[in-house]
Amino acid sequence: MSATHLPGIVGHSVEHESARLHVSGRAPYTDDLPELKGTLHAALGLSSQAHARILSMNLDAVRQAPGVRCVITAADIPGANLCGPVLPDEPILATDTVHFLGQALFAVAAETREQARRAVRLAQVAYEPLPAILTAQQAVEAESWVLPPVELRRGEAEAALAAAPHRLQGQCQVGGQEQFYLEGQIAYALPKEQHSLLLYSSTQHPTEMQHMVAHALGWHSHDVTVECRRMGGGFGGKESQSALFACTAALLAQASGRPVKLRADRDDDFMLTGKRHDFVVDYDVGFDDEGRILGLKTTLASRCGWSADLSGPVNDRAVFHLDNAYYLDAVAIRSLRGRTNTQSNTAFRGFGGPQGVAAIEYIVDDIARTLGRDPLDVRYINLYGGPDGQDRTRLSTHYGMEVEDNCLPRLLPELEASSDYRARREAIRAFNASSPVLKRGIALTPVKFGISFTATFFNQAGALLHVYTDGSVLLNHGGTEMGQGLNTKVAQVVAHELGLALSQVRVTATDTSKVPNTSATAASSGTDLNGKAAQHAAQQIKARLVTFLAERYQVAAEQVHFAEGQVRVGEQTFRFAEVVKQAYLARVSLSASGFYKTPKIHYDSKTLTGRPFYYFAYGAAVAEVIIDTLTGESKLLRADILHDVGRSINPALDIGQIEGGFVQGMGWLTTEELYWNAAGKLMTHAPSTYKIPAASDVPADLRVALFDNANVEDSIHRSKAVGEPPLMLAFSVFHAIRDAVASVDGYQRNPALNMPATPEAVLQAVTTLRG
Ligand code: MTE
Ligand code: MOS
Repeated sequence: MSATHLPGIVGHSVEHESARLHVSGRAPYTDDLPELKGTLHAALGLSSQAHARILSMNLDAVRQAPGVRCVITAADIPGANLCGPVLPDEPILATDTVHFLGQALFAVAAETREQARRAVRLAQVAYEPLPAILTAQQAVEAESWVLPPVELRRGEAEAALAAAPHRLQGQCQVGGQEQFYLEGQIAYALPKEQHSLLLYSSTQHPTEMQHMVAHALGWHSHDVTVECRRMGGGFGGKESQSALFACTAALLAQASGRPVKLRADRDDDFMLTGKRHDFVVDYDVGFDDEGRILGLKTTLASRCGWSADLSGPVNDRAVFHLDNAYYLDAVAIRSLRGRTNTQSNTAFRGFGGPQGVAAIEYIVDDIARTLGRDPLDVRYINLYGGPDGQDRTRLSTHYGMEVEDNCLPRLLPELEASSDYRARREAIRAFNASSPVLKRGIALTPVKFGISFTATFFNQAGALLHVYTDGSVLLNHGGTEMGQGLNTKVAQVVAHELGLALSQVRVTATDTSKVPNTSATAASSGTDLNGKAAQHAAQQIKARLVTFLAERYQVAAEQVHFAEGQVRVGEQTFRFAEVVKQAYLARVSLSASGFYKTPKIHYDSKTLTGRPFYYFAYGAAVAEVIIDTLTGESKLLRADILHDVGRSINPALDIGQIEGGFVQGMGWLTTEELYWNAAGKLMTHAPSTYKIPAASDVPADLRVALFDNANVEDSIHRSKAVGEPPLMLAFSVFHAIRDAVASVDGYQRNPALNMPATPEAVLQAVTTLRG
């Protein structure tokens, strides 16, 4: 048996399995499923107060509204009124107190969606207002936490700061971000016989939805089946937070005995669900004349919202990524997880990592300008292993993991040269000297991102593979498809393993009754985990076929080869389908379940030390921007990206992820601004006020290249995860804007520019420097 290399499949840009359906509008999402007769449509009644005791809730008018068939409150939940993924601190429906403006109080099912939406407005709720904590700073002042503060220290930061030739203190703010999946949250619950239920859910985590629904109904897991064929984007927002919708749809279905669909309106989706955590970062950094960081003390305070949700691991990841690409010798990081009366913030592409990276990139940028050096040189000097990567004393992260595949010292010079960074920087300086209103800026920023779930046990996956007697292959795995191309990559892996054309492998909807006990499709590890599990399943079937053929045709196992839809057995060649038929008649099992667990990882959640990541993915970007110093508007003119995906399984999909991640990151850092008013009401709850990037914001000149590299670890075909890391390439855009702003006073001072660098923020920073 040989590992036949199939140039046609793994490593090639085969199209996304749904590409044609996506672009022609024919890909069915949950809302497109044919509705069963009798289907009711649900809506949620939301709190109008940020923090208040509920004195009374009169739902008579709601019950009597046209079309209403079922109304439930917390009191009607037969099982646990609970949908917190980690801690039991999150009721599905509010009980006696509301904790944020927008919290779900009750749920209604009516004959039409319109009727349900009109009915929820008729509730009469009396509140006794309580003081509300809205921001991370207010939470810090009140010592209001969803989880206790965490501290990670290495070396003696205070002593290093005291001894450093230069020292700088500052603060930067990093904004939150709404996931803005184009398909909103939705669940469709179908009651089945003998208290069982089938739930279609747009979720990154079918298994967790199964558990939550079973708990809420007081049932067992085997009573609930959850299916998800695809999401119209998740971006972390459907990891834990699809639970509210899954649970209420299921509860209403159980209460009414009818199928119930709950599709949140966009505004309600904004008001109900959590977003990326915004952070306030305070820092005190000591450095030498070249900008080498000698000591760093920092506090990361985040707005977690009203419940813990995933805030623990999100904030942990911010702490882990505070180094980004840089060796931090003496460091003390304090991580504060603020409980606030706002939506419960959650996963969003990067999962806290981007906020940690935001902090250190800001600090490095400040150091460079303070010393009058090119920020790129300060970045080089601080790289793991030093500028050339050779200094072995500077390879361990602040959490004790060695950087083994340290590729940035190779990657950065390659991008620096291909983007012509130095010459363009000079040209920009010359342009700015003679352009009083329009100013240009440029920045090159790296990214290093740890791959694996930090909770070690999540790093496992399963797959179920059937080979039918006509030779066609059906695959099911535990991951979910949200546009990223996971199903395509996993199908490529299986086709490769069995020597088949891709068209012979079909991947079916994620289904908790086929592959159980799965992890969320998150942490970018979908292909790493499910690709390996599917490969394991395919290998088992292949091994059975090899054994069978070797015996039947009296050849050595090494003389059996699978390639191009055929099987060579010694001197003879059969079609794959023929072999399968023969094996079936000889009673060889043609179905297998595969399993994978990531090796080598371990991590102590108390001390935040260990090897939480299997490996790192790397990349870097150069952005050139132009700003208008009279209006604060900015435009990205050109971006050059060099990104490490290991040995790509599918370059087209990987480049798609890189471009999408970069533009999504750019939106976060330049235009997307969440604003709550003094009463705690989120005012930016629709695309009219919350500005995500449009197609026209993609720079006309966008150059993306894949870094020539192979994973040093035994990942699936030596590839690397690509889902989240490229988002952080967008720091190049932010720092290019900051560079442009700094030009207004001849690069003398560090502009006070927070993230996002909206036109208002840019104008303010310019005005401050000029005034
Ligand atoms: N790409 C698309 N098109 N849609 C998405 O929702 N989510 C991102 C990323 N890329 C997302 C996406 C996030 S947050 C993660 S964790 C990964 O995809 C998850 O998929 P993967 O593990 O298969 O990369
Ligand atoms: Mo992604 S934030 O890990 O779903």
